[in-house]
Amino acid sequence: MTTYLITGAAGFIGANYVHFLVDKEPEAEVIAVDYLGFASNLANLDPVADRIQFAAVDIADYTEMRTLYERYRPDYVVNFAAESHNDRAIVDPSSFVRSNVTGAQVMLECSRKVPVTAHLHVSTIEVYGELPQGQHSFTEASPLNAKTPYSAAKAAGDQMVRAYMQTYPELDIRMTHCANNYGPYQLPEKLIPLMITNVLRGRKVPVYGDGLQMRDWLHVLDHCQAIHTVLKAELGPIPEGAATDTALLPIFDVSARHEVSNLDIVRRVLRELGKEPDEWIEHVADRPNHDRRYLIDPSKIETQLGWAPTVEFESGLTETVAWYVDNTDWWQAIFKQKGDLQVDWSK
Ligand SMILES: NC(=O)c1ccc[n+]([C@@H]2O[C@H](COP(=O)([O-])OP(=O)(O)OC[C@H]3O[C@@H](n4cnc5c(N)ncnc54)[C@H](O)[C@@H]3O)[C@@H](O)[C@H]2O)c1
Repeated sequence: MTTYLITGAAGFIGANYVHFLVDKEPEAEVIAVDYLGFASNLANLDPVADRIQFAAVDIADYTEMRTLYERYRPDYVVNFAAESHNDRAIVDPSSFVRSNVTGAQVMLECSRKVPVTAHLHVSTIEVYGELPQGQHSFTEASPLNAKTPYSAAKAAGDQMVRAYMQTYPELDIRMTHCANNYGPYQLPEKLIPLMITNVLRGRKVPVYGDGLQMRDWLHVLDHCQAIHTVLKAELGPIPEGAATDTALLPIFDVSARHEVSNLDIVRRVLRELGKEPDEWIEHVADRPNHDRRYLIDPSKIETQLGWAPTVEFESGLTETVAWYVDNTDWWQAIFKQKGDLQVDWSK
């Protein structure tokens, strides 16, 4: 039997991946790990609760993590666990360093000491920073240029992953950078579920600055499929040239090449909800250091591994809005437990 250890499993993408895995590989043993931090929601795993084992462990705690590895001896590890909210990182950067840097390294070290078939670290487009004028998109060869405490912590975790790839080539470590995800089970402090739940509670929708920040959007199911493809791919040894050409490392950028401005997304969602955008949008002060534009090129994962996105943005967004409308109990329980999720980073 194949054993998977999935961290950050009570968060948005981790939970979607656990659902995906249980459906795709019904015989597999799935160990779901999460330290149940602010962004977590154990109810995200309710639909698969009888099919998985859950462990409340902090990935930055080496002793606890190693004990878990030795107990379950996972074949495959996917590390989704991270503090992930840019606004919260401005208020409290330290917790981001613990999860996104120390946590990433502890996970790598556990996979070194208790060997696994493959270890995949989930990273983000945001480590590349802001796209310069005139450049079409980032690639796996682009330099890391993080600007915010969240993306800097993720970029530092990335560097540790790259160092392990090159220092311990006998380990099988892989990494993905993904565009912005949308879909079910996303905490309503992020743009799309925040605006849907605001409208459903009769509140206006905040738009940072002019709202013309451009974002690259991918449905979470396409991200799950990309992760599984990278995790299971037969990849050869790391070529020598990778020391100076990072595109040769087992790193894959994931995107549907679907670029939309934040303002456009807000308008589309409001129309889906039958609301007149101009009556519901409220422009608020922009976040410091807010990246204007980023886009990544998924050519490597497309040509080398045959992955392609399957969810059309328009239908994916319609289904996502419908999911939050149909699952009011899910998000009302979150507001009841966590209070108002809108962050005032200026305090
Ligand atoms: N959401 C996106 O659009 C997006 C895009 C690209 C990449 N990513 C990456 O995907 C991963 C998952 O993102 P998400 O949107 O699901 O985030 P999320 O905040 O919804 O979930 C993250 C989960 O990790 C858990 N966690 C954090 N620190 C932990 C620790 N030290 N030990 C154990 N658990 C811990 C949290 O409790 C939470 O449940 C992150 O690494 C993120 O950087 C996200």
